Amino acid sequence: MARNSEAWTHAPESLEKGYFVDPKIYVDDGIFREEQEKIFEKVWLIACHESEIEARFDYRTYKHPAGHNLIIVRGEDDKIRAFLNICPHRGNALVSESSGNFTEACPSGGPYRITCIFHAWAFDMKGECVDIPRRAEGYQERVKKCDFGLREVRVEVGYGGFVWVNMDDSAPTLKEHLAGALDSLEPMLSEPLEIFHYHRAIIDGNFKMWHDTNSELYHDYLHYHNRITGFPTKEYWERKFITYKNGHAQVTGMRLKYDNYGSQAKRNLGWPGLPPNGWALVDLFPGITFNIRAPAFRIDTAIPIGPNRLFIEFRGFGLKSDTPEQRARRINDHNSIWGPFGRNLPEDLLALTGQGQALADRSEAPFILHGRNENNKIHDEVGMRHFYQEWSRRIGRSPSEPFAVKHQVAAE
Ligand code: FES
Ligand SMILES: [Fe+2]
Repeated sequence: MARNSEAWTHAPESLEKGYFVDPKIYVDDGIFREEQEKIFEKVWLIACHESEIEARFDYRTYKHPAGHNLIIVRGEDDKIRAFLNICPHRGNALVSESSGNFTEACPSGGPYRITCIFHAWAFDMKGECVDIPRRAEGYQERVKKCDFGLREVRVEVGYGGFVWVNMDDSAPTLKEHLAGALDSLEPMLSEPLEIFHYHRAIIDGNFKMWHDTNSELYHDYLHYHNRITGFPTKEYWERKFITYKNGHAQVTGMRLKYDNYGSQAKRNLGWPGLPPNGWALVDLFPGITFNIRAPAFRIDTAIPIGPNRLFIEFRGFGLKSDTPEQRARRINDHNSIWGPFGRNLPEDLLALTGQGQALADRSEAPFILHGRNENNKIHDEVGMRHFYQEWSRRIGRSPSEPFAVKHQVAAE
């Protein structure tokens, strides 16, 4: 029976609250600001991969979801550091290109420095202020270079050579944050990796919708490729979710039946630590997915820029040791599944776009179900529920009743 307006907007009574969320959590401005402050400001996020800044003095910028702009730079000492992309003089952005190398001089200053174009203050790769033009004439002894260094942001490089950043100087270490969630991928991340693919989607949708999609496999009905390479196998239905502290989840591996898709020949390259045609998947709170499907490795990082506006960065990796032939096969495989015109990724983006469009109308949005219970098996939605427990713990709101009297959810 179809429902009238009142019934449509009622929370489902036959399900406990942990099994659905109020769609307002996807569109509310205030909740988004709280997420920036209480989640993104405090967690470890992947800004880029070390192979994107391979040479000394290479840099890359990163739009941080808590609202910051960062410069990630490899120093003369080979160490990777991150700084706010803000000049301490009058707040100008220090670099405007998304990537480059500071060995080149710029119109405002010499090489091997970060020079602000506004008044030519200059900084070295450690963030120290090394030049203030006509300092003594104007500031006398009141302004000293040593008091005007850049704001350094915590960096850890690891788990496959990724550059992780954290805005919170007192946050737990990366290892503590991950709580073992990437341990099972260690054999797959043991060899040096190299990026071969980057693209970015910009969607009218909420970052949690993307995370929801990555943390449930019931939506394999969306993916023709996954259905015919996965559903006929016993291993597919045996895959299980394993949850970790701090909101992370893993789906246990499987081997896909690519011969059903007529593409077995491409797949015999493999990936270290994975069986032939193997697939490993880990989803990290609040929006990073490691997806290794031999012979290619994709990682996505979600960068919300508003409650209903999302950048998602997609990267593809091979092994640094690849021969040209091996690399070509990885690229071909990656792009045929996960490239912008591949067989899998655009389908996920289509669903996200549809959710973003439909749920943006808050008066018409139904409650969103996360209610599948299948003993943590592949079509169970425990991954999503686990994410929302952590979300709730950090935000201090219930996702099913976000505007009820604020409550505190016990730490896991
Ligand atoms: S704002 Fe950067 S030098 Fe003045
Ligand atoms: Fe998908």
